Amino acid sequence: MHIDLYERFWMWSAAMICAALFGAIVYGLVGEHTRPPSHIETIDPTAVWSDPRFAQRGVTTNPDGSVTVTAIAMMFAFQPGEIRVPAGRPVTFRLTSPDVVHGFEIAGTNANTMVIPGYVAQFTTTFAPGEYLIVCHEYCGLGHHAMMGKLIAEEGL
Ligand code: CUA
Repeated sequence: MHIDLYERFWMWSAAMICAALFGAIVYGLVGEHTRPPSHIETIDPTAVWSDPRFAQRGVTTNPDGSVTVTAIAMMFAFQPGEIRVPAGRPVTFRLTSPDVVHGFEIAGTNANTMVIPGYVAQFTTTFAPGEYLIVCHEYCGLGHHAMMGKLIAEEGL
């Protein structure tokens, strides 16, 4: 079968783009430890503030030494706005929103999730010592650009 040169060129170009995109996915999974969120837990978004799961926000140390962070993302702040966790130990985040869709990204780490009203977003990660900026990466309104927080990972906490 004869395939025209230009046809061949575009076929190979398309194949190479597909290979590059697939490579980016594999790199994200293997090199950057990116994992799609798989936790499914619902919550009444109108009753977030009185829900016992979010009544006490902040950092809790579990009996096994791991840490749980309970936080709310709302227009236009994270509650609590400053989070202090131990470095080098698994930290599980539990987040929800009482209003609109927000994002929760800890810059420079693999911590990144959407925070959707009606759902509890949960993921676990570990931090190197340092101070990290938390940003909202879903446009949530006029104050979106000012919605940020701080995470401090300390050694020996
Ligand atoms: Cu919250 Cu953008």
